[in-house]
Amino acid sequence: MPCPSRSDELVFFVNGRKVIERNADPEVTLLMRLTGTKYACGRGGCGACTVMVSKRDPTSQEIRHFSVTTCLVPICSLYGAAVTTVEGVGSMKTRLHPVQERIAKSHGTQCGFCTPGMVMSMYTLLRNHPQPSEEQLLEALGGNLCRCTGYRPILASGKTFCLESNGCQQKGTGKCCLDLGENDSSSLGRKSDICTELFVKEEFQPLDPTQELIFPPELLRMTENPEKRTLTFHGERVTWISPGTFKDLLELKAKHPEAPLILGNTSLGPAMRSKGCLHPILLSPARISELNVVSKTNDGLTIGAGCSLAQVKDILAERVSELPEEKTQTYRALLKHLKSLASQQIRNMASLGGHIISRHSYSDLNPILAVGNATLNLTSEEGTRRIPLSEHFLAGLASADLKPEEILESVYIPHSQKWEFVSAFRQAQCQQNALPDVNAGMRVLFKEGTDIIEDLSITYGGVGAATVSAHKSCQQLLGRQWDELMLDEACRRLLDEVSLPGWAPGGRVEFKRTLVVSFFFKFYLQVLQELKKLIKPFPVPVSALNSRRYPEISDRFLSALEDFPGTVPQGVQRYQSVDSHQPLQDPVGRPVMHLSGLKHATGEAEFCDDIPMVDKELCMALVTSTRAYAKIISIDLSEALEIPGVVDVITAKDIPGTNGTEDDKLLAVDEVLCVGQIIFAVVAETDVQAKRAIEKIKITYEELEPIIFTIKDAIKHNSFLCPEKKLEQGNIEEAFEKVDQIVEEVHVGGQEHFYMETQRVLVIPKTEDKELDIYVSTQDPAHVQKTVSSTLNIPINRITCHVKRVGGGFGGKIGRPAVFGAIAAVGALKTGHPIRLVLDREDDMLITGGRHPLFGKYKVGFMNNGRIKALDIECFINGGCTLDDSELVTEFLILKLENAYKIRNLRFRGRACLTNLPSNTAFRGFGFPQGTLVTESCITAVAAKCGLPPEKIREKNMYRTVDKTIYKQAFNPESLIRCWNECLDASSFHNRRKQVEEFNKKNYWKKRGIAVIPMKFSVGFAATSYHQAAALVHIYTDGSVLVTHGGNELGQGIHTKMLQVASRELKIPMSHLHICETSTAMVPNTIATAASVGADINGKAVQNACQILLKRLEPIIKKNPEGTWEEWIEAAFEQRISLSATGYFRGYKAFMDWEKGEGDPFPYYVYGAACSEVEIDCLTGAHKKIRTDIVMDACCSLNPAIDIGQIEGAFIQGMGLYTTEELKYSPEGVLYSRGPDEYKIPTISDVPEEFNVSLLPSSQTPLTIYSSKGLGESGMFLGSSVFFAITDAVAAARKERDIAEDFTVKSPATPEWVRMACADRFTEMVWNYCLFS
Ligand SMILES: Cc1cc2nc3c(=O)[nH]c(=O)nc-3n(C[C@H](O)[C@H](O)[C@H](O)COP(=O)(O)OP(=O)(O)OC[C@H]3O[C@@H](n4cnc5c(N)ncnc54)[C@H](O)[C@@H]3O)c2cc1C
Ligand code: FES
Ligand code: FES
Repeated sequence: MPCPSRSDELVFFVNGRKVIERNADPEVTLLMRLTGTKYACGRGGCGACTVMVSKRDPTSQEIRHFSVTTCLVPICSLYGAAVTTVEGVGSMKTRLHPVQERIAKSHGTQCGFCTPGMVMSMYTLLRNHPQPSEEQLLEALGGNLCRCTGYRPILASGKTFCLESNGCQQKGTGKCCLDLGENDSSSLGRKSDICTELFVKEEFQPLDPTQELIFPPELLRMTENPEKRTLTFHGERVTWISPGTFKDLLELKAKHPEAPLILGNTSLGPAMRSKGCLHPILLSPARISELNVVSKTNDGLTIGAGCSLAQVKDILAERVSELPEEKTQTYRALLKHLKSLASQQIRNMASLGGHIISRHSYSDLNPILAVGNATLNLTSEEGTRRIPLSEHFLAGLASADLKPEEILESVYIPHSQKWEFVSAFRQAQCQQNALPDVNAGMRVLFKEGTDIIEDLSITYGGVGAATVSAHKSCQQLLGRQWDELMLDEACRRLLDEVSLPGWAPGGRVEFKRTLVVSFFFKFYLQVLQELKKLIKPFPVPVSALNSRRYPEISDRFLSALEDFPGTVPQGVQRYQSVDSHQPLQDPVGRPVMHLSGLKHATGEAEFCDDIPMVDKELCMALVTSTRAYAKIISIDLSEALEIPGVVDVITAKDIPGTNGTEDDKLLAVDEVLCVGQIIFAVVAETDVQAKRAIEKIKITYEELEPIIFTIKDAIKHNSFLCPEKKLEQGNIEEAFEKVDQIVEEVHVGGQEHFYMETQRVLVIPKTEDKELDIYVSTQDPAHVQKTVSSTLNIPINRITCHVKRVGGGFGGKIGRPAVFGAIAAVGALKTGHPIRLVLDREDDMLITGGRHPLFGKYKVGFMNNGRIKALDIECFINGGCTLDDSELVTEFLILKLENAYKIRNLRFRGRACLTNLPSNTAFRGFGFPQGTLVTESCITAVAAKCGLPPEKIREKNMYRTVDKTIYKQAFNPESLIRCWNECLDASSFHNRRKQVEEFNKKNYWKKRGIAVIPMKFSVGFAATSYHQAAALVHIYTDGSVLVTHGGNELGQGIHTKMLQVASRELKIPMSHLHICETSTAMVPNTIATAASVGADINGKAVQNACQILLKRLEPIIKKNPEGTWEEWIEAAFEQRISLSATGYFRGYKAFMDWEKGEGDPFPYYVYGAACSEVEIDCLTGAHKKIRTDIVMDACCSLNPAIDIGQIEGAFIQGMGLYTTEELKYSPEGVLYSRGPDEYKIPTISDVPEEFNVSLLPSSQTPLTIYSSKGLGESGMFLGSSVFFAITDAVAAARKERDIAEDFTVKSPATPEWVRMACADRFTEMVWNYCLFS
């Protein structure tokens, strides 16, 4: 079949509008064409780019609506499809969709970068199920990451659509807040009332499915008379061929045997992106209905290879409901994995054929299909044939594989039979949306009526380069009885046969080996249970189980069998309502929606990269070092410069001013200090061209020594970034002499910011006076401005930085944006063109660094009643290759280490290590979350030694009365004690502690743990110059007011809070007020929006400006007290009264004398306490979070919805730090974890099943605006309550197993750590195996 040289027209619809692409490029994805939809990972792993695709099913003729991640959708695949994006769903200009309204009004948006994706996932769910179940909601949102909100409010908005959600959020408490009338605005004003509603559900417009966009009639007509012609789309490098008939497909495959079939593109797409695989021809069978045929027979089910995994799930579920249980063993095992495999979007896109043929070693379905004896129906022009989906096929042996010209038409999966049992197992870093570490499919067939093994198959994924079959072991076990002896032998054989090399992909070798046998043990028990059901009385020698270790299969051991089900979180948020006398118009203290909430939800909120392309704009991409420490010997750009569209290369030589500092250069010169250090930048017409050019650049290096990656190596080489920081009180040496001591080590891993919006900047050079406009995603525009000024050697006053909003910062956009801004500005200056620089997720993670990993050593001296007499902590943090904020982080760490405890004899020391890793930087909490984990671990260790519960030790050593910190700053801990007591109360801690103990007695393989953690968190910078802010308020002649201040909107709602302040001060509704952006031209010399004090200091500045204006207006108001705001403004203008004022706040005089170890570094403290309960699976290391209760002292919250949002978001981020987020490096210092697939931030299913947050009823702090407190960071550390609950559960397991209860604390407490800490006969087997093999 000849391939036409001209492209066909590609026809599809976007939001009801017809799109005709005459030159569709197969390499272009739908994401590249959309604006409201966001790029955050490019790999299908975050859901930010979700849209809904609607297609008519060629077989059923029904219209299918499904969510997809557009970063993996080639536009060519959209022929005949209708795409609905967030803009098509509703808009602020026309009509909001209920999903958009509710997510915004439920406070489900903070930075708003994830919101369009969330909206589209929820919208698609409602298109298919207008009243979904809560489980369906959880499933639909499982693939959408949010780094800000902690998901609770997003779920709350979704739940308003659910069948079950008609009740009040106080489910189970016996009292309904709605009955109490707490929901209307008048009752919100009742004094000392506690509110539990953050939004008024009754205000929401109903969902009306008849209002939705219809499937375009033109597309209906197209599908009624489907085009049978082959369609061809030629791109620059790739041709897409989409045949209209099966015959043509086979003909094309014969002609282009090397061309892959492209279905979901979820395997091909990421490989083409990250591994640079280029396929010049792609064959798309999207229009071939033969690949979607499903047929049921008496002995099995045949499913078309083109069916999506979501369709496969539905087909299997239907079959399971129709057939007797014994026939559906394999189907149920597949269904189990189809629930957790990837996300809803990926399951919608990925095809069964693509999944099988990709043969990923981690494949969740192939191990089950293999043991279930599935067969593959292959077709080519030559005819059809069947091959088994066997271990040889999975290993890719040519003799058992498809021939190049063959395609997979369908898959046959036989029914299971009586006496046959099939199970699936899987363990991943977290429950949802995570690739498995190890998975397995297991099947056993018994001789009828016996427990004699007739057939056995076991396959594992994740343990080698392909799915591995334990064929030999299985053969050797045939004829054996299903008993303990068989179990022991099977485990030994499996360890022998499934031999992971010492180094396996992703590491975790011992853990994986342990899972290999633990899974089999689970299977053993499961089957035993099933057998018991099948034969009564059963001749199996159950007595065989009465071995030494496992006296009987009692309920205690059966806990091994239960998986953790996904549960939709419930919870209550409590806060104090405003005073009943507060005017209704005054918004302070009320749960006002985020100012941009609706714009986030409609996709109208403009982020840096949404700024439309400007005239003559060029794109920049960065070239980074691939060596950890080396001399640059040569750079060959020749091939790169030949790439069409490449305009220039920017090197250090092009910098007219200063190239950073001597120790921290913007662009490397001669030498590189880490993998990921920026060496130069390529400028091209498009982003794609710039990236292609980078691949062609050749750099030769000469390695230098010593290369240092770890803290331990840095200590060995005496490699430090700054002098030691130390605080001391009492006489530590003397105190140690009289008490018992523990000496221990604690390891806390680093953390990636994973803000959803990666670093991005647009620099626009102006034609006059070297002026530059810079649009940048930063927490510190003044720093960007200053850095660009010194880099270009032009005065600061020529440079204007604009920040409209930032898609999450968390500290990661304080220092780094200046580097990107400066490099882009050099490019703009050199080329004379506007330059756009948008970092890929991979580059962002590689280059920017994150939270400092910490290694802590402590020595603690205590009495046997738990009183701590002396504590000596020495901490080392990994600063990376330049100083950045490492010295400051060390200082904060030391200042905050004491947390809530009064210990008379203390010594804290800290040092920042210089290593060959990218420089680590500021991150929410600034050292506190890492350091205080050492302190709390020490408390737990003392408790274990004293045989007392940790909460007793905490209480015993907590500050009780007005006192002084280790740095002699006086403070009153009253609110700390209140938070602690309320948290114990609210969580029914003591009762639940007993219940946990009861549970643990009854369950051997599952253990529960509970922990309550107090917190004293100091806010602010320890430097006086940071405690200042300015604001500029203009009143225009129509009465509208423009507020500008020095803070940046990062999602934390600072602009909303500022308008609440201005509204109160000017006594006008918020609707009169507006904030446009943060701009260095409006408010100069701003400080970074960080350290939790953004709203405190800027709020005071806004207040000051408003008060100045009001003072000016006073005479006019007095003269006409009944007048309107507009009349007063008009009069003021007539009378030549200035309607513009600058407000200024000269804040706290922070001071710290490190020589004396004394100071008043912090304006105030935020107190809090959190209690968490978890359950762990000792056999896999998985855990579920049963409940969390947080009590936080917010004083008089400016906006309880925003503050609770900050607490919840920070808590979940902290939980990620302490449980799942793990940075992995290669031995050469290359960061492996560079995307959401390898780096696991919490997903929606990680939210505790019950999640309650209370703001402590008002206390006062005189220093801040309206006595509010900054809550941006503090919640982070409370995530450690989950960590300590996990370690509590692990300790319970160890105690029962008679192993030492104390163990080295390592964060994050990943499944790997938990599993290996819960040592048992299986870990022992693995260690013995390692020892002797
Ligand atoms: C974010 C993300 C998360 C994921 N998580 C998981 C997970 O948790 N567990 C898991 O097991 N997998 C996971 N996957 C992998 C996913 O299951 C596979 O990528 C997917 O099933 C491949 O199907 P596809 O239709 O997209 O294949 P494509 O990418 O379109 O094609 C893949 C390959 O299959 C070949 N092919 C496709 N159909 C046929 C056919 N009919 N005949 C012959 N050859 C064919 C193609 O030639 C190509 O080589 C994940 C993927 C992503 C992107
Ligand atoms: S899933 Fe597409 S950008 Fe992340
Ligand atoms: S609001 Fe979800 S990522 Fe910011």
